[in-house]
Amino acid sequence: MTPILRPVNPAPDADALAAIYAPFVLNTFISFEEVPPTPTEMQARAEAVLDKGLPYLVAEDAATGRIIGYAYASPYRPRTAYRFSVESSIYVHPDAQGVGLGRRLMDAVTDRCRELGMKTMLAVVSLDPDIAIEDNPSVRFHLGYGFKQVGFLTNIGRKFRKWAPTVLFKLALALGE
Ligand SMILES: CC(C)(COP(=O)(O)OP(=O)(O)OC[C@H]1O[C@@H](n2cnc3c(N)ncnc32)[C@H](O)[C@@H]1OP(=O)(O)O)[C@@H](O)C(=O)NCCC(=O)NCCS
Repeated sequence: MTPILRPVNPAPDADALAAIYAPFVLNTFISFEEVPPTPTEMQARAEAVLDKGLPYLVAEDAATGRIIGYAYASPYRPRTAYRFSVESSIYVHPDAQGVGLGRRLMDAVTDRCRELGMKTMLAVVSLDPDIAIEDNPSVRFHLGYGFKQVGFLTNIGRKFRKWAPTVLFKLALALGE
């Protein structure tokens, strides 16, 4: 499998994006959503990112054209002084995990954010309360990528009848941080 990365096409890609995301919503603590967004909602979310001029990339299997992952940067907070801070989101289909695609997607998103003059990227990683933080795959990915843990919020999410925490990660995009 040789994935190629390309900018999202919100309408035609929406079904595939929704299909990748839904199992994480339904079966895991990785997303704190509890009802999978419809393709129409995924399309609207992608359009909102592009409308801000921010990157939203999909990875596609070059041989089949199947979308196997996506990543994007969205505004961290709406108030204007936060305008140089973005929040990352990244989802790779389980079939395509562990072979470098997450790193490639993150490289592409961070490169574009740097070109746009963004200074800081945040990632909010929600945790399964039954898995030790150091064993959480997303925690390991973000630490391995160079994010620093800057926050930990206990009992901040309620899913599957359990209280779950989040970790806040920060990546400096610009020199001088
Ligand atoms: C987390 C995720 C994006 C990582 O993508 P990936 O394609 O599997 O990761 P890669 O193969 O590019 O690995 C990148 C690095 O992270 C490390 N890593 C990735 N998954 C890991 C895991 N489960 N355990 C330990 N390290 C891991 C790799 O060792 C690799 O390090 P290296 O580049 O120094 O060799 C992907 O597994 C995923 O989509 N998971 C489910 C959704 C999710 O958790 N998204 C993040 C929500 S905050």
